[in-house]
Amino acid sequence: RSHHAVASGLEGIVVAQTELSDVDGLHGKLCIRGYDVEEIATKAIFEEVAFLLWHGRLPKKPELEELHSNLAVARRLPEETIAALNFAAKRMHPMDALRFAVASLTADDPNIEDDSRENNLHRAITLTARVPVIVATYHRLRSGLSVPEPKDDWGIAANFLYQLKGSEPDPAEVRALNTYLVTVADHGMNASTFTARVIASTQSDMVSAITGAIGALKGPLHGGAPEGALEMIEAIGTPDRAESWMREAISQGKRLMGFGHRIYKVRDPRAEVLYRAAEALADETGEKEALALAREVERVGVRILAEYKPGRNLNTNVEFYTALLLRELGLTKDLFTPTFAIGRTAGWTAHILEQKSSGRLIRPESEYIGPRDLKYVPLEMR
Ligand code: CMC
Repeated sequence: RSHHAVASGLEGIVVAQTELSDVDGLHGKLCIRGYDVEEIATKAIFEEVAFLLWHGRLPKKPELEELHSNLAVARRLPEETIAALNFAAKRMHPMDALRFAVASLTADDPNIEDDSRENNLHRAITLTARVPVIVATYHRLRSGLSVPEPKDDWGIAANFLYQLKGSEPDPAEVRALNTYLVTVADHGMNASTFTARVIASTQSDMVSAITGAIGALKGPLHGGAPEGALEMIEAIGTPDRAESWMREAISQGKRLMGFGHRIYKVRDPRAEVLYRAAEALADETGEKEALALAREVERVGVRILAEYKPGRNLNTNVEFYTALLLRELGLTKDLFTPTFAIGRTAGWTAHILEQKSSGRLIRPESEYIGPRDLKYVPLEMR
């Protein structure tokens, strides 16, 4: 029996070849199917990037129009999912509600056994259309409000804000949300994407893979961090308190949420894209003071973490400014991670398609360190 060194946290292990995205942690670059995130985040809308991830190129005009109309049709939720949301709205946390509702989406899939690429592409569109509707519906139901009918000629970002808030969103808000969704659409072999690929690799179905991915995204070390990042910024309150607050947190062994990354050894490029988007929106919402505070928290946090972990280069990650941007869009803190899931569904579904077309069963090994050769002792003699 061969003994390999255990790769703790699978650090440094390459588990797949992918054409979807590349995270260059040394230079702080994120490439999405050939495009730097800075290049497309403010130019493309989310639907274009979903198409790019699924097909390997940007859509032509008629293709984008076709996608828009397919998404509009797919937006109607099955009655089982509405029932699930009615239940979830009473007692479940948003990420649990999302996982619960998404799990029900096989209800109106008549060809669940059919694992063809054509069917799975259709499922990718359906999931991408429905995740935002699920999040908005859940939020309206838990707030005791009716859910506005989606507008068929609006895109995902506009419809999500509309269904969530019940009023027509400002074009600047729609632009900012598109930037956010594009920025988080895909990000290499992160934990939730890996989860989705593991499930897809067994030839299980796409809904199962996305349900599992949502479970992985939920944790605070992955997608669950923006809530904590905003709580920290709010608790700090004023720039002069940043230093003492963060030193105290570190001395209590806490992690500073929104800082640090497995791959990035420099600042996460998505942090800057989202900071700029938050800044552009702040012109209109008067959140400039909050952003200035965040900048100071970032500056002080990076300095303190450099002292605490020399050489580890702990910088801000995507979650830090996600929190500010999504707050500016009027989202409650507990909807930040579900909104991350809306964007990442494009990447997850693309990875599932890729895994199904070129991947092999993912089945790693473990090193057994428990006892051997024990003898069974009858119950009454233990
Ligand atoms: N605050 C304080 N200490 C930290 C932080 C932090 N944010 N990040 C890393 N460290 C310390 C950590 O305690 C560890 O120290 P020790 O070796 O003494 O245990 C050392 O730095 C190395 O950290 P690690 O946990 O081995 O690094 P990792 O690559 O496993 O973890 C991380 C990466 C993102 C989980 C971690 O940096 C972290 O917990 N950050 C805070 C949570 C967060 O912001 N998560 C969002 C990640 S970005 C979104 C996404 O792409 O999913």
